[in-house]
Amino acid sequence: MDGIRSIAELPIEGRRVFIRVDFNVPLHGSKITDDTRIVAALPTIKHALERGARVVLASHLGRPKGAPDSKYSLEPAGALLAELLGKEVVLADDCIGDGARKVVTDLREGQIAMLENLRFHEEEEKNDEAFAKELAKLCDVYVNDAFGAAHRAHASVSALPHLITDRGAGFLMQKELKALGRFSGEVEKPFVLVLGGAKVSDKIGVIEAMLNKVSTILIGGAMANTFLAARGVSVGKSKIEDDKLSLARSLLNTAKSHNVSLVLPTDVVVAESLDSVAGEVVAIDAIGADQMALDIGPATVATFTEALSRARSVLWNGPMGLFEKPAFAAGTLGVAKAIAAAPGFTVVGGGDSVAAVQDAKLADEFDHVSTGGGASLEFLEGKKLPGVMSLIS
Ligand code: 3PG
Repeated sequence: MDGIRSIAELPIEGRRVFIRVDFNVPLHGSKITDDTRIVAALPTIKHALERGARVVLASHLGRPKGAPDSKYSLEPAGALLAELLGKEVVLADDCIGDGARKVVTDLREGQIAMLENLRFHEEEEKNDEAFAKELAKLCDVYVNDAFGAAHRAHASVSALPHLITDRGAGFLMQKELKALGRFSGEVEKPFVLVLGGAKVSDKIGVIEAMLNKVSTILIGGAMANTFLAARGVSVGKSKIEDDKLSLARSLLNTAKSHNVSLVLPTDVVVAESLDSVAGEVVAIDAIGADQMALDIGPATVATFTEALSRARSVLWNGPMGLFEKPAFAAGTLGVAKAIAAAPGFTVVGGGDSVAAVQDAKLADEFDHVSTGGGASLEFLEGKKLPGVMSLIS
């Protein structure tokens, strides 16, 4: 974080403060089903309002393909924010142009406006300089609190801050960088990395980056099937990545040569299809040819729990199974509870595993629940995030 100013150090009183937030929240119709990202941005927004800034919020939502689409309007997010702040949030119907400029010009000290979805303009994702200049007309000070979007080299997080001298990070961005940053240097051991989710390919970078410091890697979810298949286990109809089998084999060997214990499931919950509503626990060598593994089994949960009970550092990304369905949720829940009870510093990232932690009401038991999915993975891989690099003065 060297060279990055905090919003607390920036001269924001009475000025137009453009705060890039990540309000890319899950919606069901116009109802927000998880408000975590909005709540997480409140400390920065409140701080700016209390110091008499004229606050201009900007975000993307979904992937609207560079043109206005009411399905991806930020209106529900603005309404929820107004409710949480107990204060009017004026919504501009675009993020650039005369309308947006008027809304921003009319703001008084301590008032707040929200621009419409940045991705209604294709220039946002192209990191277009002219588009960034249009956004720059709306701000005197630039603050990035959108950690979840920091891995995107898009105009509002990359080109724009370079145009504004008074720029820096919001409190959420700082919190994320501090918590995840604890895994970039030396990590207190035993350090347990817990990985799940669908694809080995999404997690290779993190595995490689952590191999030198991790004690144990616990693998569940569909990605475990690819590792099991690489070890010669018959996984029936389970989802595997055929083109990643040799990579999985070489990761198993590399882990061994680094003295890292890479633990795979010893039992799983199987069913006939993704639509099944009930499952059956079987040992890993007893998966039928017409069955697929949809969760880790209780013996595996017990093994994972044992490893986690001694952990001084835990990093978790990706669910252990199809946790959206009650019949296949026990593995993810069991692991969430074991991490919540672990004695060390615990961090969870990634949309699905975070959702599982929220559903189980365990978020308070974690030291840090990241609002970044792809951003947290890329940060942990050691990549330089465009949205962070652009804040350095
Ligand atoms: C996320 O949800 O990971 C961020 O908001 C980034 O969204 P994107 O993957 O559509 O760029």
